[in-house]
Amino acid sequence: MKDFKIIEWLGDRIRIIDQTKLPHEEVFIELCDYREVADAIKELRIRGAPDIGVAAAYGLALGAQTIETGSKDDFMAKLRPVSETLSSSRPTAVNLFWALERMNRVAKSGEEVSQIKAELLAEAQRIEAENDEANHRLSEFGAELIPNGSTVLTHCNAGSLATAAYGTALGVIKKASEQGKRVKVYATETRPLLQGARLTTWELLKENIPVILITDNMAGYFMNKGKIDCVIVGADRIAANGDTANKIGTYGVAVLAKEHKIPFYVAAPTSTLDMSLATGDLIPIEQRGAEEVTEKFGKRTAPEGVKVYSPAFDVTPARLIDAIITEKGVARVPYTESLAALFE
Ligand code: MRU
Repeated sequence: MKDFKIIEWLGDRIRIIDQTKLPHEEVFIELCDYREVADAIKELRIRGAPDIGVAAAYGLALGAQTIETGSKDDFMAKLRPVSETLSSSRPTAVNLFWALERMNRVAKSGEEVSQIKAELLAEAQRIEAENDEANHRLSEFGAELIPNGSTVLTHCNAGSLATAAYGTALGVIKKASEQGKRVKVYATETRPLLQGARLTTWELLKENIPVILITDNMAGYFMNKGKIDCVIVGADRIAANGDTANKIGTYGVAVLAKEHKIPFYVAAPTSTLDMSLATGDLIPIEQRGAEEVTEKFGKRTAPEGVKVYSPAFDVTPARLIDAIITEKGVARVPYTESLAALFE
């Protein structure tokens, strides 16, 4: 976002834009304690895989600052609950665990407590900077896949709000547009929390990129009418074989894209790859509260007592994905080899 920072370190606290209030209100809140950071992640005030990773890194740096001891052993013992609280905030986006692992490694390798605290902050700042760089680079690779005059469908929000940076799926679209290509976007509403309707359209309107909002169940209609040239989505966790967890509904869009022979692309930094998981079946899927489905903006939309299932993510099998766009290059089938090659 050109006009403001999604996450800002203020020395003894973190300032974020509260994404639950968008698009009606641009409200910034200050998080003064690591528990508040964990709660903000849980409540989706901060959301999107890379954004959650950056927030968790700053959250750990914030928690570390308040530990008062001169002993490294004591410091490490007190840092553990900070890390555990942050890592228990949401289960699916691997960027959270990736960032905390990096931060814990830095803490372990330090010697003096004051020096470790400074290094933790420096590492969080590095994670943020590297993430932005990765977003730009993958967007450049991705833009090559977008012909001039394309209409792109995207699901959920994988822009600046979701990354605290340039964006992944929306980064690709923004880059293509900056290169002078004419690009139009169909944004799905993204039930139940409306990240597409509230956030993607808000971002794209700010960027002056033409966007049309559709409900999730309209995707097939517009594909069948020949209105969509390709699909680009972000990811919360990609297994070693390319199976990709992303916002619930992504799988359905991918199946529809296959039926209509429309290319389906995933754009994500390599921090979203979980090479420790052989397939997507092993990705933990977050289950959210029933009220997110039965209530809309404080108004009940379903009868009291109705049973609800609400998985926040689904897994799109690698066979439905035409390419995975990362900052290290574009991977294609067979993903087990092409994704592993990104790390060589
Ligand atoms: O529940 P959310 O809003 O955190 O889910 C976000 C998504 O599914 C995004 O598509 C994904 O994190 C990629 S963000 C670049």
